[in-house]
Amino acid sequence: MQTKNVLPVRITELKELQKGVFSLKVKSHELTENAKCGQFVNVYLDSKKLLLPRPISIADVNGDELRLVFQVVGEGTKAISEMKDGDTIRISTPLGNGYDISSVTKGDKVILFGGGIGVPPLVYLAKTLKRMGADVTCIFGYRDETFLNDELSAMGIDVRVTTDSGRVGYHGNVLEYFIENRLRADYYYACGPRVMLKAVASHLHENGQFVYASMEERMGCGYGACVGCAIDVFDENHDKVRLKVCKDGPVFDSRKVVW
Ligand code: FES
Repeated sequence: MQTKNVLPVRITELKELQKGVFSLKVKSHELTENAKCGQFVNVYLDSKKLLLPRPISIADVNGDELRLVFQVVGEGTKAISEMKDGDTIRISTPLGNGYDISSVTKGDKVILFGGGIGVPPLVYLAKTLKRMGADVTCIFGYRDETFLNDELSAMGIDVRVTTDSGRVGYHGNVLEYFIENRLRADYYYACGPRVMLKAVASHLHENGQFVYASMEERMGCGYGACVGCAIDVFDENHDKVRLKVCKDGPVFDSRKVVW
């Protein structure tokens, strides 16, 4: 059982990366010391109207610096986006299971599929895997405008971009790109809309492979109160059980998910 602490921390940088997508940085040893790739934090607002925290995935960790990248989708995220550098914000210690990277070893080929606002958690994952000596390729899909891909490319990570509009990179989606280019890997990780995760998982399953999929899109309150995040999963007896993405995920082995 994870113990959650909520800490007041000062915003060191808050900026808009792309229309409606913001990057927020804070410094805190307690928030970063045990943070794992694929985990999320709950961000609390000091407003009576906005009592429920906003779950936001961890985009990156650099020493004591924690970076969150989020999209404005409602009042809560809008309020966070309107804060200023130097303001104090309350953030929980990292939550969720994160990506299982325990089997990846030096030289392993790893592919990361990201879709839209599912890209941010893959930044920390890509950097961590590269540091471990893995051969990392990111395939990031966007509607039209891209974000974070250039930052990773600048670090020497192989990033392929696809867009629905065709304005940047490959015209199509991440799975079409993967199939057309006959790519293969030893391990696959993904974060993005359910429809993308399902398509990637189905294709890999047909080829005897699987993907560690972060189902974070489903999260509401982030701490077990709203039940809006429940999904069907097969247990070890292949019986269907309902699990909460915020408590039991957000990352699941795609073979266990009832798609
Ligand atoms: Fe509310 Fe899981 S997100 S119960």
